Amino acid sequence: MIREIKLRKSVRKYKNEPLKEKSEKIVNESINEAKSLHGNIKTKIIFEKNGERFYKTASTLTKSLFFVKSPHYIILMSEEKEGYLENIGFIGEQIVLKLAGAGIGTCWIGGNVNDKKFSKEYSTEYNLEYIACISVGYPEEDLVEITDRKRKDLDEIFKDNIYKNHFEAAKALQAAPSATNRQPWNIYPEDTNWDYYIEEFSGIMSDKRNDLAAIDAGIGLSHILMESNRKGEMINFSKEPKKDKEGLRYITTIKFK
Ligand SMILES: Cc1cc2nc3c(=O)[nH]c(=O)nc-3n(C[C@H](O)[C@H](O)[C@H](O)COP(=O)(O)O)c2cc1C
Repeated sequence: MIREIKLRKSVRKYKNEPLKEKSEKIVNESINEAKSLHGNIKTKIIFEKNGERFYKTASTLTKSLFFVKSPHYIILMSEEKEGYLENIGFIGEQIVLKLAGAGIGTCWIGGNVNDKKFSKEYSTEYNLEYIACISVGYPEEDLVEITDRKRKDLDEIFKDNIYKNHFEAAKALQAAPSATNRQPWNIYPEDTNWDYYIEEFSGIMSDKRNDLAAIDAGIGLSHILMESNRKGEMINFSKEPKKDKEGLRYITTIKFK
């Protein structure tokens, strides 16, 4: 598995110091290099160096429930078009992985997903909304490779053990972060294709949960892509018609060549 995936974990305690110039450069590079999943969706990714400023914008309730305090934040904004949440997850996780590789700590913060209050503060463009953010800073404890994550078994995520043909990609998905570690991924693999779904939630807070699961969907895809690319394996994503299953939302089909 790629080093970045092994090193990455959600960092919630940061050194009380700003990033050095060299690290700041890596953050800016990671933002510029991150590719989108859907090229037709406009996004804006902001490195907010002044973490205090952003932190102050959040409500007391948001802070007490979800917020991770860090020297800096990456703010993820997007226009709201079909697939925008997956797209943000896909972009944000490429940034997270690159930063993990450089020893920089991050944590996705989705507790305030789609909180319009932040939108005005960070964009004057009417169609760009705040979606989520990522805390950024030097971790209090250095990142080390992780071997024991709390995760679902691969046999629970994958509905047929033919996934073993692409075992490394499956492991990379399993190690991905997800909101409250819900791991909503459900995959129906065939020989060279994986139909990729996420669980649909109903009942209390389901809108929020479904939004977060859609971000998790994009995060998972970015793990699969980065791992496959490292092995020189070409994959692509293609949305196919008539794929709905009960209780699940179809995202895409991953094609291994
Ligand atoms: C979309 C998303 C939103 C998240 N929101 C929060 C959050 O608001 N607060 C928090 O402390 N952690 C948050 N997390 C971190 C998850 O709790 C964490 O990824 C999960 O427990 C797995 O742990 P790991 O990232 O260390 O592997 C979020 C993760 C994702 C992917």
